[in-house]
Amino acid sequence: MTVRRARWVIGNWKMNGSLAANATLLAGLVTAPRADAARLAVCVPYPYLAQAQAALAQSAVAWGAQDLSAAASGAYTGQVSATMLTEFGASLVLVGHSERRQYNGETSALVAAKAAVALAAGLTPVICVGETLAERDAGRAQVVVAEQLAACADVLRDGGARVVVAYEPVWAIGTGRTASPSEAQAMHAAIRAEIARLGGAAAATSLLYGGSVKASNAAELFAQPDIDGGLIGGASLVAAEFLAIAAAA
Ligand code: PGA
Repeated sequence: MTVRRARWVIGNWKMNGSLAANATLLAGLVTAPRADAARLAVCVPYPYLAQAQAALAQSAVAWGAQDLSAAASGAYTGQVSATMLTEFGASLVLVGHSERRQYNGETSALVAAKAAVALAAGLTPVICVGETLAERDAGRAQVVVAEQLAACADVLRDGGARVVVAYEPVWAIGTGRTASPSEAQAMHAAIRAEIARLGGAAAATSLLYGGSVKASNAAELFAQPDIDGGLIGGASLVAAEFLAIAAAA
C-alpha cells in the first residue's frame, strides 16, 4: 500500500532580511505556480510576518515563524505566542531548530512543549532534529535523533500526520556540506521507524531533509523514498533558487 504524504519545501530565512530585500524576494515567490506537487512555505523573522502575509495572501506560498513560546500569554518578555502567529495568518512554525537548541539552550522537553502549543493553536509544527558532527563521528547519530523524537512522543501521537519532522544534521547546516542522498535516506528511514515505535502516524508523516540543500542537489535528495521535501536556509533567500528547489519536489 502506498501512502500519499504531503511534500513540502519550506524556506527558513533565519535572521536575514529587511523590508526592502524581502519585498524583492516575496515578489519572486508569488510567481510560484499553484501545483499539487509540494506545499511551499517560508518561515520569516517575527517583524516581517505582516509583510509576508500581505505579499503572500493570494499566492501558493504559506508563511510562518521560526520559533514560538511554550506559554499562552503573560509575563514572558521577548516571547511570541502561537495565537499571535495565527493572527498574522501563519500556518506553520519551526520548533527545535539546532540553532535554537545550541544558542538558546532549548531542551528536547521544551521543544516538545512548543510543538504541542503550536498544534493546539492549529499551526503545523515542524520539529527539527539532527546530530552534531561529533555525535555522528561517535556513531551516535541515530541514538541522538531517536532521543530528540522520543521527547516529542505525545505530540507525534496526538498530532499524527499534522506534524512535520525535519532532519537537519548540524554539520550540514550552512556549511555547504550535504548529507549524501543515501546517508539522508538511511536516517529518514530510521526516523520513520522511530515515529512508528512511538505510536505516531509514521507512514503519513512528512519527513524533510535540511542542510545545504540547493537547486543542484535537491532533486537527488527528494527522490529518496523517505524524504518528502526540504527545509531550506541560505538558498531560500533567492527567489529563483528557492523556486527551482520547489520544482524539484
Ligand atoms: P542551510 O540551512 O540550508 O543554509 O544549510 C538549513 C536550516 O538551517 O534550516
